[in-house]
Amino acid sequence: MLLERFATEANIFVPESALKWNQTEPQPGQFDFVEGDSIAAYAARKQMVVHGHTLVWYAAIPQWVSQLTSEQEAKAALERHIAVEVSRYRGKIWAWDVVNEPIEPDDDLENSYRNSVWLRSLGPNYIDLSFRLARAADQRVPLGLSEYGIEYATRTSRRRRQALLTLLQKLRDQNTPIDCLALQSHLDAGQVLDHVELTSFLRDVVKLGYRLLITELDVNDVKIRGTDRERDAAVARHLDEYLDIVFSVQRPMSIATWGLSDRSTWLREFYKRADGSPLRPLPLDADLNRKPMWAVLARYMAQ
Ligand code: G3I
Repeated sequence: MLLERFATEANIFVPESALKWNQTEPQPGQFDFVEGDSIAAYAARKQMVVHGHTLVWYAAIPQWVSQLTSEQEAKAALERHIAVEVSRYRGKIWAWDVVNEPIEPDDDLENSYRNSVWLRSLGPNYIDLSFRLARAADQRVPLGLSEYGIEYATRTSRRRRQALLTLLQKLRDQNTPIDCLALQSHLDAGQVLDHVELTSFLRDVVKLGYRLLITELDVNDVKIRGTDRERDAAVARHLDEYLDIVFSVQRPMSIATWGLSDRSTWLREFYKRADGSPLRPLPLDADLNRKPMWAVLARYMAQ
């Protein structure tokens, strides 16, 4: 069974949806932790830790949150939500993705901030505020900012790296209580990793005093031609190149994939291969056999 396989293959459990705002506080002040608690209990039974994903995001929010406009109401909502959720899981979370995906250069806003209910109601300071609230609710848990789309030799990745570094520098200058950068690592085996620029970006991040985590790893093979074997080899090679870059800068605190088996991946809904065959982006295939990607992960984790 897939769930049992998680426990034999991994020691971090990442709820893909259960800790998001639309699940945990669907109505103002009415919290629902049924799924989150059951994941936490399962993880504890299996001696796994739980990664906290995620407190403050532009998406997966209930309607009442998306309709918040006044600064006062938005602040009160943020204060209650973070205090209740972080306190509930105090001592049970490996690290929190406190603010998720705050950058979107294509939104054309100052400093490439993403347009969100939080930015509109509270301004860019919502980021600092969220971390302060999380720190107040749990003094020990590592607090992270999570972002994607920074790996490649493309204009998009370059703009995102620049914006993210500027933001991380600003948060340091403000003494925001933030510990780590969560590299989502939704990779694309059809693109070219920017060895030089990605390495220097990560070095700059580490110089600012941040730890690194890899939190949503998968390797999209939508553009890779060939047999399953050839595709799996290309995915493994791409991951090897990526981990080589990250590990050359700092060993990440943890590596988590976004799913375990090709049987179930969010990518399937968004990317369709020209030959119609299912994507193969995760460490186990659809029959739960280990793929070359699994071996690459095992090799780096043994370092
Ligand atoms: O739980 C309901 C179910 O009751 C209902 O019948 C069904 C019908 O649509 O929807 C189910 O909810 C879905 C949920 O996943 C649980 O499977 C939502 O519609 C769907 O929007 C949601 O998608 C998730 C998405 O985040 C939004 O929360 C994806 O599974 C999840 O992989 C994706 O994850 C994000 C990370 O949080 C942030 N980084 C990018 C990553 C991929 O997009």
